[in-house]
Amino acid sequence: MNPDAHVPVLLLPAVDALAIGSRPDGTFVDATFGRGGHSRLILERLGPSGRLIAIDRDPDAVAVARALEDRRLTSAHARFSELQATLDALRAGPADGVLFDLGVSSPQLGDPRRGFGFQIDGPLDMRMDPTQGVGAAEWLERADEAEIRGVIRDYGEERFAKQIAKAIVAARRRGPLTRTGELAAVVATAVRTREPGQNPATRTFQAIRIHVNQELEELSLALPQALAVLRRSGRLAVISFHSLEDRIVKNFMRAGARPTMPERVPLRAREMPPPKLRIVGLPQKPGPDEIKANPRARSAVLRVAEKLS
Ligand SMILES: C[S@@+](CC[C@H](N)C(=O)[O-])C[C@H]1O[C@@H](n2cnc3c(N)ncnc32)[C@H](O)[C@@H]1O
Repeated sequence: MNPDAHVPVLLLPAVDALAIGSRPDGTFVDATFGRGGHSRLILERLGPSGRLIAIDRDPDAVAVARALEDRRLTSAHARFSELQATLDALRAGPADGVLFDLGVSSPQLGDPRRGFGFQIDGPLDMRMDPTQGVGAAEWLERADEAEIRGVIRDYGEERFAKQIAKAIVAARRRGPLTRTGELAAVVATAVRTREPGQNPATRTFQAIRIHVNQELEELSLALPQALAVLRRSGRLAVISFHSLEDRIVKNFMRAGARPTMPERVPLRAREMPPPKLRIVGLPQKPGPDEIKANPRARSAVLRVAEKLS
């Protein structure tokens, strides 16, 4: 497979959820452009005066978006926690649909220079946007053992977090951990058992990546902005790949679908302010064929909501 390719997950259900057919000249936002799998299908369905805003924090992804010659497409190098400001700067709101396809792309994972992977050795970085923030090596150099343990336990749901954090701190006393291969080898010494076929470093790498990129904070900041930029009956579609992400999406949608009850004001049911959104359908997961063709899809969940007012 082309190392720069990314097979989109839940492509049809996610783009169907945006209901582009009912407003083909609307404005849609792909907040995680990646390699543009979802964006290309959105453009196929969009009418001649429709508009697609493609956002990604990764400069490599933005370069791919810029190379797509389509005058309906505008790309932005931004974090999706800057969604509202990005649309304001482009004079692009309100939106008819916003899509998030969370996590990392295959080209990010597969390029050893980006430092996400343990399969091929590379510099230990893991930033989706290498122009900002602190990479994994620098964080591991500075963090104390309790912080490393907490990240690996909470974001990796790793049973051996304590042993791994101890091993990392012992290893860095001998010299800084600067390569993905070094980190994977240190983790392997501390992990006693692993599910068949899973590399001992899988959970630790995932946890450090989530921390370095502040993935859960980004999502929590972005969802209310997505709701704010949507017009009435606009659609929000979110594909998550991790139970912690899915919980944030689920709780956000459920809270928005309940009437907002002002505190300490006694109200009758018919006087309650209406909910902000409506949950559309049940959460969708990829079927066995999609998972077989694209193992990355196995933990994906799509949730959809519609803005009510
Ligand atoms: C799973 S990929 C998206 C793939 C895309 N849907 C496709 O079909 O090609 C996730 C993308 O979102 C980007 N991303 C993740 N978190 C982000 C954030 N907080 N702000 C902006 N982009 C983000 C990543 O850089 C990556 O390119």
